[in-house]
Amino acid sequence: MALITSKDMFAKALNSDYAIGAFNVNNMEIIQGIMEGAQAENARVILQVSAGARKYAKPAYLVKLVEAAIIDTGIDVCLHLDHGADFEICKDCVDNGFTSVMIDGSKYPFEENLALTKQVVDYAHDKGVVVEAELGKLAGIEDDVNVDARSATFTDPAEAQEFVERTGVDSLAVAIGTSHGAYKFKGTPYLDFERLKEIHKLIPDTPLVLHGASTVLPEFVEKCNQYGGKIPGAQGVPEDMIKEAAKYGVCKVNIDTDVRLAMTAEIRKYLTEHPEDFDPRLYLGPARAAITEMVRHKIRDVLNSSGTMAL
Ligand code: G3H
Ligand code: 13P
Ligand code: ZN
Repeated sequence: MALITSKDMFAKALNSDYAIGAFNVNNMEIIQGIMEGAQAENARVILQVSAGARKYAKPAYLVKLVEAAIIDTGIDVCLHLDHGADFEICKDCVDNGFTSVMIDGSKYPFEENLALTKQVVDYAHDKGVVVEAELGKLAGIEDDVNVDARSATFTDPAEAQEFVERTGVDSLAVAIGTSHGAYKFKGTPYLDFERLKEIHKLIPDTPLVLHGASTVLPEFVEKCNQYGGKIPGAQGVPEDMIKEAAKYGVCKVNIDTDVRLAMTAEIRKYLTEHPEDFDPRLYLGPARAAITEMVRHKIRDVLNSSGTMAL
């Protein structure tokens, strides 16, 4: 059991019909909840840390908590920086225990994104750390943006091929219609699978990454709202679409919103039903257990990655 890179797990997932869950972590209960889910399913897992999570928890805490979770569960972990905005944050993570970093240059023009990614790849590879980059922009659900305008920002397959060849990046996040947060689609969910297939055909050896892949499970939204929440009309990526994506090169599926919802629903429920309690363990305990169940469901029923620790 150890902190490992995603190289081996992606190599095995690439030509299979399963994907590895990459869950965002911010504190001890979230890390424990996810890791206990991975342990129960004997599954490979990626724990990812955003800049916001590093700021909230302070960098050293999350690394040490993840190390503790590996000792406790016996499950290997790839510890990944999510959406690194510049070279400096990637370098800091490479130098301080992360085994994988994302450099997110997707907001820059192609050549700038490429140069920035190459700079991070050169530094990280030298230290045995793998790199994820992003090409194309994840769609929002802004008013007045029709399907054509939306897809204009999706990943261009030929560009993806050139980008991977020139940067030597280990994995590539693609924009095919998902977006971050709880509100992903107006109307019927749509992912551009033809585009995904084309990208996978051109770069068959490159593991692809799906950001914004939460399903925004209705049971959690409803539970939040039943206990005082006011989350309006949330809509995520249907589970069938995630399963489908895993067949076309998607090896890493990013999930944060579903973790947040599972946790918050349980805390709301507990505090509403026990207004006299004020011991944080009493509401964080059930919240942690809810994360474990949600993660088990993802691994077993959506990502199809149960048992992958043994592969
Ligand atoms: O894609 C972003 C993740 O959901 C992390 O969100 O920046 O609020 O930690 P955050
Ligand atoms: P969700 O908001 O759909 O959970 O996406 C998370 C993500 O992409 C983290 O990088
Ligand atoms: Zn993301």
